[in-house]
Parts: sequence; structure tokens; C-alpha cells
Amino acid sequence: MQTTLIILKPDAVQRGVMGEIITRFERKGLQIVGCKMMRISQDLAATHYEAHKSKPFYDGLVRFMTSSPVLVMAIRGVGVIEISRKMMGATFGSKAEPGTIRGDFGVSNSYNLIHGSDSPEAAARELELFFGKDEVTEFSRSIDGWVYDLSSGAPE
Ligand code: RTP
Ligand code: MG
Repeated sequence: MQTTLIILKPDAVQRGVMGEIITRFERKGLQIVGCKMMRISQDLAATHYEAHKSKPFYDGLVRFMTSSPVLVMAIRGVGVIEISRKMMGATFGSKAEPGTIRGDFGVSNSYNLIHGSDSPEAAARELELFFGKDEVTEFSRSIDGWVYDLSSGAPE
């Protein structure tokens, strides 16, 4: 099992589409194991996006991410990092395929509703940045035997 960090960005919260986006992850069979609303500080935004520090869009990105509250989630599943990146779609709604979150909910070339970790290393780093240890829960679901084939002992 893998866990990833998903952020519903300020535009998703302000536009009232949190529920519809969360529903997509739930209906996919992924497990939400941590969830909270927060206002991202300047420092946290800078650390989270430090890889983009030299990019022309960096200042605007930090301004956007700190402009209004976000919803952060820890989401768990087999291959969840790749699955959730596919569900999100290409970076901007103008290019993202219909059927993806960015493709279905946005048209902007700047605001793009959602962040998802892009590698296991990024997920570990970002989960630690946004969640305390006791904020990510551990629980089994009674539906897991229908979401996954558990007959071999490992989820398939
Ligand atoms: P994210 O990190 O937020 O999940 O998005 P991503 O992997 O699809 O895109 P990435 O290249 O990592 O860029 C991070 C965020 O920076 C903003 N951005 N603006 N104006 C631009 O050309 C530009 N490029 C990227 C977006 O908010 C993007 O999500
Ligand atoms: Mg990225």
C-alpha cells in the first residue's frame, strides 16, 4: 500500500467542488486516511514548491496557494500515486482530458484545483510537511475485500 498527499487548492475550496472531487477518490476505491482544512503559510508553500523556486510562475504560485484555505488529504491504495496523477489530468484545465479532475472542473492556465505527489519520495516528504504522525490514521475497511482481490493474501 502506498499513501499520497492530495491538496484541494484554494480555487477548489472557493468554488465549492471539494465534495465532488473527494467523491471521485472514494468511488475509485481509494482510502482517505487523513483530511483537514488549513491555511498554507508562506514558509510551508515555499518549502512545498522549492523545486520550482527559479521558475517564472513561482511567485504567483505561492501567492495563489496562500490566498485562501485548502483541504489536504492523505490517500492510500495500491499504486495510489500514479492512479491519482492520472485522475488529476494534465497540469491545466485548458489541456487536461475530459474525464480527469482538471479536465472536468477547470479551464484556467493558472488555477488548477488540485495537487498530487508525483513520486514515492515526494509523497513521503510532502506527507511529513502537511500532517503530524497522529493525523494520518490506520484502519481497515469492510469493503476492502471487494475493492481488491485479497485471495492471494496481497491486494490485487
Ligand atoms: P502539482 O505539483 O500542483 O500537483 O501540479 P503538476 O505536478 O501538474 O505541475 P508542476 O509542474 O509540478 O507545477 C506545480 C504547480 O505550479 C503551477 N504552474 N504554473 N504558469 C505556469 O506555467 C505554471 N506551471 C506550473 C501549477 O499550479 C502547478 O500545479
Ligand atoms: Mg508537481
